[in-house]
Amino acid sequence: GKVLAEQAGIPWPAVIAHRGASHDAPESTRPAYLLARDLGVDYLELDLQRTRDGVLIALHDDNLLRTSDVAEKFPERKERPVSDFTLAELKSLDAGAWFNAAHPERARPSFEGLRILTLDEVIDIAEGGEHKPGLYIETKLPQQFPGIEKDLRDKLAARGWLDGRVRPVALDEGRVTVAYSPGRVVLQTFEKGSLELLAREMPEVPKILLLWVGDGYMEAAPDKPHDTSVDQDKAAWYARQRPRDRATFESWLDFAARNGAVGTGPSAALAAGGKQSYMDLTQPWMNRMTQDKGMLVHVYTVDDEVDFARLSEAGVDGFFSNRPDALLRFVGRA
Ligand code: G3P
Ligand code: CA
Repeated sequence: GKVLAEQAGIPWPAVIAHRGASHDAPESTRPAYLLARDLGVDYLELDLQRTRDGVLIALHDDNLLRTSDVAEKFPERKERPVSDFTLAELKSLDAGAWFNAAHPERARPSFEGLRILTLDEVIDIAEGGEHKPGLYIETKLPQQFPGIEKDLRDKLAARGWLDGRVRPVALDEGRVTVAYSPGRVVLQTFEKGSLELLAREMPEVPKILLLWVGDGYMEAAPDKPHDTSVDQDKAAWYARQRPRDRATFESWLDFAARNGAVGTGPSAALAAGGKQSYMDLTQPWMNRMTQDKGMLVHVYTVDDEVDFARLSEAGVDGFFSNRPDALLRFVGRA
């Protein structure tokens, strides 16, 4: 896949900081993105949503309960989607204290009072350091945000991120090279409709179709299990399904390619810690089929060295990771 990646202007293997360095700092906040940037990652990953007053922001969940103090500040609206809040309301929330409570061993007093970031602020961070990471932007829940693909295009254009200029890419030992910028932004989505809209709005920008087993691929699994271990009966069932699954999988790839995707973002989330899962969408035949069609494989979300190694063997072209420090060590860039 290295040649394919170069053609798309995408570093190989791609080091994508998932919601920033989100193992070590509250996801999608300033310290998480600063940490990742200064480590020298290729991309800052973010999930794009839109406030009630039309501002693009970086936030993963469809509500604010897990990653903020919304329950205290807006108890009557605590379960409402992000789109129910104005930017001023979102900016009044504490987006860091939850992390200290959830991860006392990684807590820092400075995380208290962190704010949700706008896309503009994430762009500022990406542009602000010695390293210049790209942005890897997911249209999250796009059906909740009609027109968000165009809003994103307008913002990226206004910020000069679609103008095809060159960008410096920091390499090891302080060497700096210059790469053409088509891969400075990568767009990603699980939603086929959003991929079509992204392709229409930004045909020149590389796009990735994210893949998840819930999207039909394993619909017929006996009990839709969420365990990470391989159960022999289930594994046998899986093996029997493979021919049909291949056709389904191939139809996803063909859809992605037709809509300008340069690759896929398959889930390996259920294969953590070296435990293979039959819900894993990064099996060697899948990667091969994807790459045979001229597409890249960027796998999410991988934090464990055992998995970096296994997935590298399985031929993937890049990783989304909450632990970009570990990933950079693995690829020999730290
Ligand atoms: O964008 C890749 C990966 O982040 C997709 O899953 O739920 O973490 O956005 P999620
Ligand atoms: Ca994401």
